[in-house]
Amino acid sequence: MRQGPVIRRLVRETWLGLDDLIYPVFITAGRGVVQPVAAMPGVSRYSVDTLPRLLDEVVELGIPGIIVFGVPDTKDERATAAYDPGGVVQRGVAAIKERYPELLVITDVCLCAYTDHGHCGLVKNGEILNDPSVELLARTALSHARAGADVVAPSDMLDGRVGAIRDLLDAEGYNHIPIMSYAAKYASAFYGPFREAASSAPQFGDRRSYQMDPANALEALREVALDLEEGADIVMVKPALAYLDVIRRIKDTFEVPLAAYNVSGEYSFVKAAAEKGWVDERALVLEMLTGMKRAGADIILTYFAPDVARWLREA
Ligand code: PBG
Repeated sequence: MRQGPVIRRLVRETWLGLDDLIYPVFITAGRGVVQPVAAMPGVSRYSVDTLPRLLDEVVELGIPGIIVFGVPDTKDERATAAYDPGGVVQRGVAAIKERYPELLVITDVCLCAYTDHGHCGLVKNGEILNDPSVELLARTALSHARAGADVVAPSDMLDGRVGAIRDLLDAEGYNHIPIMSYAAKYASAFYGPFREAASSAPQFGDRRSYQMDPANALEALREVALDLEEGADIVMVKPALAYLDVIRRIKDTFEVPLAAYNVSGEYSFVKAAAEKGWVDERALVLEMLTGMKRAGADIILTYFAPDVARWLREA
């Protein structure tokens, strides 16, 4: 059954399609800004006014949705810019939905790019304050929904945030807005290039007191169960490549839509090797993403989305 392309296609079990992909987008303050991210060739930060230079193409390529990250120009102790109705994400989302009403806009809900210390919550004496942070995360999610976000995606990994976001959205008339939770998010070295892109590296310590230990898989099942109980509609595993077993276990245990985040480090090392001519980028990327789908992911968040769209078009 492998002798020719027709029969191989006939018996193929896993199909990677454009409809599976979500493209991450970085929105920064200022005007006229298109700022390449050095460690992520092909990825730039855009100010609200230059976004069409990127998104006209994204929409033309048929990519169904984006996830938006904000890079604010002010950071403080209380992450004020995260829930400011005039913040970069809030203004960006409103502008995007006006120009591309059909494009699905997901917003990343976190405080790390907005706090001066770079942690995902409020900090006192070097410790993360869980509950007061969760309140601010819920306010942030609400401000995104008010700006027109179609889905909110909390990525902080603090306890109880999904429930708090659900309650506040419901109380404010946004009961129709789904929550995609970063449910099993690991404390990973694969986020390195992203922290340059989002200027969100922690200024002291690391994220191991709130993100998961890479050695644990059963704990991922407990995290997913909790998030679903609190009202998550889509759950995510992040990163993807080193955690395909976690994706599979979640898929086998829970009957809910599952997303995998093909993170910045997984993008950068492919781009670097391809630039050196060491690998066949197209074959490598399609194999990686197909592997994520085979493992059980329904949705893949990936910086390769435009590349994949072009390759699928050619195929
Ligand atoms: C914010 C957040 C991070 C990523 C997505 N949301 C960084 C982190 O937790 O340090 C990583 C995305 C990527 O590496 O592509 N908390």
